[in-house]
Parts: sequence; C-alpha cells; structure tokens
Amino acid sequence: MTHLLDIDDLTKTDIDSILKLAIELKQSHIDGNVPSLLHGKTLSMLFEKPSTRTRVSFEVGMNLLGGDAITFDLSQLQLSRGETLSDTTKSLSLYVDAILARVTDHSLLEQLSSTSKIPIINGLSDKSHPCQALADLLTIYENFGNFDVQAAWVGDGNNVANSFARACSIMGIDLVMATPKGYELSPETLSKIESSGISFSATNDPQKAVSEADVVYTDTWVSMGDESTRDKRLSDFDGFQINSKLLDKTEALVMHCLPAHRDEEISTDILDGDRSLVWTQAENRLHAQNGLLVHILNPAQDAPK
Ligand code: CP
Ligand code: NVA
Repeated sequence: MTHLLDIDDLTKTDIDSILKLAIELKQSHIDGNVPSLLHGKTLSMLFEKPSTRTRVSFEVGMNLLGGDAITFDLSQLQLSRGETLSDTTKSLSLYVDAILARVTDHSLLEQLSSTSKIPIINGLSDKSHPCQALADLLTIYENFGNFDVQAAWVGDGNNVANSFARACSIMGIDLVMATPKGYELSPETLSKIESSGISFSATNDPQKAVSEADVVYTDTWVSMGDESTRDKRLSDFDGFQINSKLLDKTEALVMHCLPAHRDEEISTDILDGDRSLVWTQAENRLHAQNGLLVHILNPAQDAPK
C-alpha cells in the first residue's frame, strides 16, 4: 500500500494483517513490552483541525514502537505562505518516513498523495476517517469474535459513517443506515457498498434500523466545519438520539468515535453504560494504528508468526 486516503485503499487481506498485528501489539502493550519495530522511523503529522485521540494515539504509538512523531499545525509550515505542496512533501520526505494529515478539504490529501513519494495517511477529512474505521473493526472483532455482525448507523452520513460503511462492505458486516433525508452516505460509498455483496439498507427510521442490530454506531450531528448549520441540524436530527428508549427492545452494543456531544446524538447514560464500546474504541485507536504503522513502515514484520 502507498497511501491511505480511505479504508478501501486497503484490501481485506491488508486489514486482516493489520488487525492481527494490532491484537498482538495490544497484548504486548498490556505486558509492557511493545517491540521496537519502528526504530529509526519518523511520522510527521499535519493538523488543519483540532484533534485529541488521533494526535495523541499516533504520537504515543510511534514512541512505543521505537520511532518518533513530529506534529505541526498546517499554518506553521511554509505551505501557508505559498510554498508548493510538491516542494513541501519533497522536503519532508528527506527527513520523515510517512505523513499523516487532518484536513478540511479531502482534495488536499489527494494533492499531497499525488506529489509525495512517502506514504500519506488520512487523519480525517471532510469525506473520510480510515484510521477510525480500523479501530472500529478491531473493536467489533474483539467483541464478537468475527465479522458476522449486523450493524446499524443512526445519525449523520458523515466522514466517519462513510469510512465505517466502506469498512463493513470490505469485511462483510451487514449494515442498516438510518439518517434524516439529505444526510445519506455519499453516492461513491453507496456504489461501493452495492457492489460488495453485503446486506445493506437505508431508512429514515432509527427504530427500524436498530431492531435487529448487534451494534449501533453514531457520531456528532455537527461535525467540524458544520457549525454554521448547527441549529438546522439539531432540528433535522430530532428523534435520532441513541438512548435507552431507542434501544429498549434490543441488546445492541453502542459505538461512537468521539468527541461526543452528550445528550445530543447520544444520551449520557448510554455513553457511560454497560452497552458502551466507546472507550474500547478510543483505546483501540492506539493498537489498530500501531498495526497500520508497522504494516506501512516495516512490512517485513507484518503478520509475524
Ligand atoms: N475520533 C477522533 O478522531 O478523535 P479526535 O478528533 O480527538 O482525533
Ligand atoms: N464527524 C466528526 C468526527 C470527529 C472525529 C468531525 O468531522 O468533526
């Protein structure tokens, strides 16, 4: 693999290897002996938007694996004063081994990847969040032991939803999407799902979506960049909150990528309750990404015995 702009830049075989590595590296972390598989490797991270989990988990992951991470706000680079992207990536590639970028506009990642000789990793764009999707898959696999799972997404068909839906289509997870009208998955994601063979349906009825679900996933109704439409969104998403009433007749577990807007898209009792996989998802960002980093930067170590 060269670049990771969305989860379907990885094949099912790639994802199987990354998850296997992630499970082994998570156990090493618990045992306090994560191997230095990335000694001498450096990841540069560029952020155009805030981040808690992505930034910290990648920095800690690189350090645990014996490498380094350098984090920038994009505005700190000469890029912000007009240096070209190709000169930026050419220079960075003289010092570092991969670039992670969190960007406002996905097309910046496409430009970065078209000019970069080192791997570009999407740390979230307006279109997708593949690193989150890897942690989501790890969390589902750990809890269910396989991907023979019925998932429901309730809420905005946003960046996280699009990557999760694509991840489901690659790994064979059946999916029901419940969104208000106008907040559906992108046409590109829908066409990928249609050709994947998973069972997929879309509805505007959250109750219908969760009725058969093993796991129910939601994300904020107001993503970074959507703030100017917040009032309209809160009104459009009325009735889409994940709460005990919605889940009353199911035993479904609950996922959320965080940050949560407590008591908007998810009630506090569900977020902090027994059904919640949310904190495991957050923890698994570290381990899934460690698997990804080794897969990209030290492929000889991929899928060890
Ligand atoms: N889920 C996620 O990407 O969190 P951050 O925005 O804190 O990185
Ligand atoms: N959909 C959210 C995810 C944050 C991790 C956003 O883009 O703000």
